[in-house]
This record gives sequence, C-alpha cells and structure tokens, in this order.
Amino acid sequence: QTGLTTLDNGFGNTAACKSAITYIDGDKGILRYRGYPIEQIAEQGTFLETAHLLIKGELPTEGELTAFQRDISQHTLLHEDVKRFYQGFPRDAHPMAMLSSVVSALSTFYQDSHNPFDAEQRDLSAVRLIAKLPTIAAYAFKKAQGHPFVYPRNDLGYVENFLRMTFAVPAEDYELNPVVVSALEKLLILHADHEQNCSTSTVRLVGSSQANLFASISAGINALWGPLHGGANQAVLEMLTAIKNDGGDVDAFIRKVKNKEDGVKLMGFGHRVYKSFDPRAQIIKSAAHDVLDQLGKADELLDIALKLEEHALTDDYFVSRKLYPNVDFYTGLIYRAMGFPTSMFTVLFALGRLPGWIAHWQEMITDPSNKIGRPRQIYTGIDTRDYVALSER
Ligand code: SDX
Repeated sequence: QTGLTTLDNGFGNTAACKSAITYIDGDKGILRYRGYPIEQIAEQGTFLETAHLLIKGELPTEGELTAFQRDISQHTLLHEDVKRFYQGFPRDAHPMAMLSSVVSALSTFYQDSHNPFDAEQRDLSAVRLIAKLPTIAAYAFKKAQGHPFVYPRNDLGYVENFLRMTFAVPAEDYELNPVVVSALEKLLILHADHEQNCSTSTVRLVGSSQANLFASISAGINALWGPLHGGANQAVLEMLTAIKNDGGDVDAFIRKVKNKEDGVKLMGFGHRVYKSFDPRAQIIKSAAHDVLDQLGKADELLDIALKLEEHALTDDYFVSRKLYPNVDFYTGLIYRAMGFPTSMFTVLFALGRLPGWIAHWQEMITDPSNKIGRPRQIYTGIDTRDYVALSER
C-alpha cells in the first residue's frame, strides 16, 4: 500500500509503521514527498515550501507561505543565555555535538511549548526549531573558527540568512553568491525527508514516550551523526582525500574494500532501501558538476569520485550487492566548494532533515492509535539458574 512502510527491528522481524509523509520505491528509485516527485520539488520548489508540505501536508498558497516565512523570521534569534553554552565547548568540539546539546537545551528556554497534545504548542515548537536551527548551526561554525557570532537578519531568505550568519565577518561586507544559495536550497530540499531512516525512527521512538519535540529532535541529530547514516557525507570526503593522498590509486582502494580490509567501506555507496539507484544522488551528481563549474573550483576529489563510481558500477562485487551511490556520495564535494569544512557537512544534512523529523514526530504524536515504541527481542542469553552465594563463587 502506498505509504505503508515496515521497520526492521534488526532481528529480521518487522514492525509495520504507517505514514503518509514520504513514499520510497527502492527498486524503481522513486522518492515522493506527500505524493510530489522529488525531481519536481527539487527543481521548482523552495526549502520552506517543502517544509510546509511535509509538516502541513500541502504546498502552501502564497498567503500561507508569507505567513510561514513571517512566523519563522520572528524566531530566528537565540536567547542571549544560549550563547553561553558555546563558551563551554572545547574549540575542536564537533558541530553535531554542539547542535544536539543546544537543541536539547532549548527545551529549558521554551517550557511554554512542551505539551505535545496542544496543537498551538506543537506548531510553536516546530516554528522555533525551523527558525533557530540555522542560527545554532552557524554559531557552532563560528565557535570552531573563533569568530564572533553574526546575528540573523530577517530581511534575508532562509538560506541566505544561514549563509550570512555562517560566513560573514565584521571586518568586511559579505556578498551572497547566487550559485551557492540556489545549490544549498536544492540540497536542503533533497535531504528534507526520507521515510523511516535511522534518525527519523529515533525521533519517532523518543517522541512516542511523549518527550517534547526539542528532546526528540536532539536524539535524531545524534542518530544522524553516525558515519553509516548522515555522517557518511563527511566520511566520503575523508575517504576521497585518503585515496588522493595515497596517490589517487582508485583500484587499490577498491581492492581494500572488496577484501574488507580493516572493515573499510565505499562510503557514500549502498542503501537499506534503494537497491537500484538513489534518485537524490543523480540530482546531486549533476549539481556537483554545475556548482564546481560555476564557482570555477575544479576539484581533484571529484575526478576520484567519478572514477570510484565508474569502477563500482561495473564491478560485480558491488553490482551483485546492489551498491549504488547514495545521497551522501557527492554532497560533500559541493559543500566543500561552498567553503564548508567537513565537520559541518552532517550539520547541513540535519538542517535539511529537520522538517521531515518534525513531520514524523507530529504524525506519530497525533495518531490516536500510537503507543510507546517498545520493540521486542529474541533472547539469546543463559537460561534460568539458581543464585550462588559469594563464598561459593
Ligand atoms: C543515509 O535509510 C535512509 O534512508 C538513510 C538516508 C536518509 O536519507 O536518511 O538515505 C541517508 O544514511 C545514506 C547511507 C549513508 N551511509 C553510507 O554511505 C555508509 C556506507 N554504506 C553502508 O554502510 C551500507 O551500505 C548501509 C549501512 C548504508 C546499508 O547497509 P545494508 O543495506 O544493510 O547493507 P548490508 O550491510 O546488509 O551489506 C550487504 C553487503 C555486505 O557484504 P557481504 O557481507 O554480503 O559480503 O554489502 C556490503 C556489506 O559488507 N556493503 C558494502 C557497502 N555497503 C554494504 N561494501 C562496501 N561498501 C559499502 N558502502
């Protein structure tokens, strides 16, 4: 049935989860947000329209979009006390650790929007998170740079505001590059939701205990951080750089992967659901070429990535295991060309995925049949036995 998804609890059993938000066909490479094909949304839509579609179920009218943008613009600032959290982090703290910590801390500042069963509070906490996550992310980048925080500006669009908070410095004017703005808008759209992936399932599971949205999203950020999930975009760049530093010998690396040396994997390849191709990867691959060309930033790592893909797509080891490039394979090259360090790549994934997480949390919490998530197990431990006194052990 469209929208019926199943969850593998890791023991080969499945727990069905119904959802009306995103549909994926892993064999045909189909991805639709609320019925709209990802190709059309990525080409024609904006990120806030996509967020509205995922959370409210419909593309906004002009009036609804203006109201949504106005609501968001009224919540982009962080409470000045939140800035003190950043002073406590070490200089080399990973931005994903800062993101999950600060998002969780927001629940202490906004106790007026904790009640998951109050529609107004649900909407307010959703708007606050969508508005504030770019600010939180930009501040994490500034912390790592040792630069002063840059306040949000409400006369800028969502993506423009984030880019300016991230890259502007007091010493000079910051000029937005339309190529970067448009490419980042498209990437955020492509990451906005993806059914019951690891981090979204985490948000649903944590939220199923009726934990507030801030706590649930913070848990999702931590799940996304893993290199097998959203952390893969950082791991891909590290992999490509390692191959380059080893003289660019793609064949030698492929041999290591096939021999499973030290558990090395072809990062950015493979998927739990897509066993033919990831439609997002195809869009991102062509965007990578366009953005690098338009920014005039030829990147040797792109050539290595293209060689890896060409090799993997013709090598039976990968073909027989149905391993194809996923959403993470090319994104890092674009982020790097935009000026982001690898440590920020998964933060950008989280910025994109936030509306999807919120939509799933709201769908779960407003489902009257929803129960607390409580997967069962197959017990493989020792059978019953009698207690042994300490003196006899
Ligand atoms: C995301 O679920 C989502 O929707 C996630 C996501 C989203 O939008 O939320 O799409 C985002 O997380 C994309 C995935 C990013 N991760 C990576 O790129 C990390 C590298 N990929 C792998 O770790 C792996 O492919 C997974 C985790 C993504 C999927 O693993 P599967 O489908 O469970 O595959 P598997 O572990 O059962 O592997 C099957 C075989 C094994 O070989 P054998 O033991 O049979 O010999 O394929 C091999 C694996 O060793 N394999 C790989 C491989 N992925 C699987 N071998 C080399 N390189 C890889 N990347």
